[in-house]
Amino acid sequence: MPAITLTTLHKLKAQGEKITMLTCYDATFAHAASQAGVEILLVGDSLGMVLQGHDSTLPVSTADMAYHTACVKRGNQGALILADLPFMACATPEQAFANCTVLMQAGAHMVKLEGAGWLASTVTQLAERGIPSCVHLGLTPQSVNVFGGYKVQGREQAQAEQLLADALDLEQAGAAMLLLECVPTALAAQVARAAKVPVIGIGAGVETDGQVLVLHDMLGLSLSGRTARFVRNFMSGQHDISSALRAYVGAVKDLSFPASEHGFNA
Ligand code: KIV
Repeated sequence: MPAITLTTLHKLKAQGEKITMLTCYDATFAHAASQAGVEILLVGDSLGMVLQGHDSTLPVSTADMAYHTACVKRGNQGALILADLPFMACATPEQAFANCTVLMQAGAHMVKLEGAGWLASTVTQLAERGIPSCVHLGLTPQSVNVFGGYKVQGREQAQAEQLLADALDLEQAGAAMLLLECVPTALAAQVARAAKVPVIGIGAGVETDGQVLVLHDMLGLSLSGRTARFVRNFMSGQHDISSALRAYVGAVKDLSFPASEHGFNA
């Protein structure tokens, strides 16, 4: 299988084939997930919660992200590696340049920035310097203290219009991909139709160009005992982890995941 690149992802969107992404933090799972056909391995700062046991992603450092990105790189079999910039790592363009350098040198092919329209000039400057970026919009967990909890975003008309405008501004600024978390299904579909770049969703319905889940969630593992509405346990009915990973890829590709009960109304 040839390695997945941004060109591959753009072709998948153009062909209407859904893109599969999973979080991944180590070499063994990188090997298993990429062998199962997962196209993008997201070294997410969710590692602060699922690996480190924190109650938010805020304590994660760029050094943590670089360590896990390097681990994923060693096991990866041709997937595209997307690494998260952790809390405050892109607060200014200069900080973004320095922290992206660390992540790209650790093995990332693309970086993910959480935020909104204010990231446009950073995205442009990163692209000019050879760093493709994915911007995470909607429920951005690094802003949990501003949101007052992990809440669906974009339910009100003004918020929805702002999110769509931000998405298009960021695309114009040079974002190579967008990721929408916990936004109403109809709004996510509107963004995916309007954007030329791939739009990946989590808790954003089936009409985005692809899906992402946190690895531990889709394997039925939870520290808190709670499961978010948008998660399906792909271990159920499977004998081993590789089969669960293949079941996830199959369900995203054939549109059986996410089902309507995994999404949110406006
Ligand atoms: O860090 C992460 O795992 C993420 C996903 C929830 C998309 O950003």
